[in-house]
Parts: sequence; structure tokens; C-alpha cells
Amino acid sequence: MESLISLVNKLQRACTALGDHGDESALPTLWDSLPAIAVVGGQSSGKSSVLESIVGKDFLPRGSGIVTRRPLVLQLHKIDGEREYAEFMHLPRKRFTDFALVRKEISDETDRETGRTKQISPVPIHLSIYSPNVVNLTLIDLPGLTKVAVEGQPDSIVADIENMVRSYIEKPNCIILAISPANQDLATSDAIKISREVDPKGERTFGVLTKIDLMDKGTDAVDILEGKSYRLQYPWIGVVNRSQADINKNVDMIAARRRERDYFASTPEYKHLAHRMGSEHLGKVLSKHLEQVIKSRIPGIQSLISKTIAELEGELSRLGKPIAADAGGKLYAIMEICRIFDQIYKEHLDGVRPGGEKV
Ligand code: GDP
Ligand code: NA
Ligand code: MG
Repeated sequence: MESLISLVNKLQRACTALGDHGDESALPTLWDSLPAIAVVGGQSSGKSSVLESIVGKDFLPRGSGIVTRRPLVLQLHKIDGEREYAEFMHLPRKRFTDFALVRKEISDETDRETGRTKQISPVPIHLSIYSPNVVNLTLIDLPGLTKVAVEGQPDSIVADIENMVRSYIEKPNCIILAISPANQDLATSDAIKISREVDPKGERTFGVLTKIDLMDKGTDAVDILEGKSYRLQYPWIGVVNRSQADINKNVDMIAARRRERDYFASTPEYKHLAHRMGSEHLGKVLSKHLEQVIKSRIPGIQSLISKTIAELEGELSRLGKPIAADAGGKLYAIMEICRIFDQIYKEHLDGVRPGGEKV
């Protein structure tokens, strides 16, 4: 099944590349039908920190204030025994092996679009990470929801951010990580509010509670984590990310994860929940969920792909074969991927047909 997720990732990349070259015809339907995971929540609730720890790498700009100002579409690709590297779509053929430079490029590319201001932009940054230490996932980091415009922002910013966020999470194929900080009242959670709006039954929303370490002395998050305060379809997952002081001191990911594990295992209130808490657990839950979604969507994706192959073939004959141009190459690439996908789908069907052998 992992190869299937990897294929979906490739398909998304191919679609995006095609869209980048001004051919919109095949893009929206195909892209919209494939699953991705987005983080939503209020400003500084810990969205970027959660994404980073799912990836297990330090590479995202984060901190107090409005740090994430453009959507970041991040594709993780699991590779065997090679060095990890990252690539941006806006910098083709440039391989980043230093993840501090990835973070810098995200900041710089954000500024290129928005200026060094507190403005936000809906134009996404596309980043791929290739690593033996990740699971195959597409993740989307989003600017935080806010309640008031601050100095240097237009009054429309509150609604602008909300609309931008909604445009990602309203898609039925989007899995939502609703991030709420434990040191604020859950009743005021922007994440819960907007995710309930687009996914009222909670069928694709995972509640993540951050900043558990920052709760007032004498209070704890047990009622929330046990689903007694606000019930979600899937169990709440609590995490402890790095604090601002940790960021300033460059505390690394491995140390942070170890500390997170120790925190849940050694705090008396959370001991009984420790096995289903923390960033690593969150990553596993998401990967498993994504596999199930893709499996259940295979027939739907298949019919879309059939249509797209026909469209692409029309496009190819219109352009006239053989096609040497770059755009033609990309079309062929997509068709190849579609055909492989098609084949996997047929194998899958053979496996589930009555009387057929189990997959
Ligand atoms: P975002 O704005 O939602 O993307 O949030 P960030 O990930 O940028 O985090 C905002 C600030 O909160 C940073 O200073 C983080 O260090 C801090 N932070 C995030 N999660 C936690 C947590 O679980 N515990 C503590 N102590 N600080 C956190
Ligand atoms: Na922030
Ligand atoms: Mg952020």
C-alpha cells in the first residue's frame, strides 16, 4: 500500500508541474480528488511545530507572531538508504541538503511574494522532502486564523485568512489536523470552529492538543484527551512541542521527541494515555488513515484518471506527436503515471473480486 501512496504523491507533483506550465485542463479535478493533510488553528497554536515533528526535521519557520504567511504544500517521499534532501518547485534542479537553508528559502520566498511585511498571500510554496526517515504524505502548513488585524495589515485580513484556510480544508479529500493550544479555553478554539464548519461529523478531522506543558499549575488536559470535554470521531492526540526558549537554544528534534515521550510517560495524570500521545504516534495514525482513505477512494480516483487520460490524449494529438517540448514531456509523464496507477487499480480489483484471492 505504501507504493500506492507514493504514486499518489508523484501524481500530485506531476499535476502541479503541469499546472505550473499554464495547462489547467486536467489539473483541478485530479488534484482535488487526492488526499492531503492540512493543519489549521489560531496564530501560534503550534501548527508549524506539529508539522515539523511529524516530518522529524527542523525546516519550518516558526515562532511567536505571524510567521507562516503563505500556504506551504509539502510532499514527503520515503526513499531507501540515501541522504535526505529537499527541493522547491520554484527552484527546479536545486537540491537542498542543509535544512536550515530550506527554512531560510521558505522565509525568503514568502517575503518575495508579500514583502517583509505582515501581509499574507494565498499563493502556495511547493516543497518536496526525500528521506528514508519519513512516511509518504502530503502536508499543508497554513497561516494562522486571527481575530483582529494588527498594524500593517488590512482590515480584510481576518476574513482573507479564513477564506484561504477554508479553501484548503473544505475539500472532502482534505484530512484536517485541528490544532488547539491546551493553555487556552477549548471553547475559543479557532481550529475546532472552522473544522466543525467544513466537517460537521468529524469524519476527517483529527484533534491535536498542543502546549500541554504550558497549562496552569493545578490544571490538566485529561478530560479533553479522553474526549469528555469535546468529543471527536477520532481520539484527541496531545503533543509537547519545543518552546520558544528551546527554539532560541536550538534544541534538536531528537532531544525534543525524547523529552516529549518522557513527559507523557512520567506525568502521573497522562501515564495511562502515554501510548496514544505524542508526535510520533500522530505520524503513525495519519499514515494509517491516509492509506485507508486512498484504498476506499481507488474506484473514484480511477474513473477520474480514465477521463484525464482521454483529455491528455486529446491534448497530445492537438499538439501533434512526437512532442519534444518540455510541456509534452510532462504530459507523457502524467500519462505514464496514470497507466501505472491504472494497472495497480486493476490488480487491486482482481484481489477484491468475489472468488478472487485476497490482496
Ligand atoms: P503556528 O503559528 O501555529 O505555526 O505556531 P508555531 O509552531 O510557530 O509556534 C508558536 C510558538 O509556540 C513558538 O514559539 C513555539 O515554540 C511555541 N510552541 C508551540 N507548541 C508548543 C508546545 O507544545 N509547548 C511549548 N512550550 N511551546 C510551544
Ligand atoms: Na506563530
Ligand atoms: Mg506557522
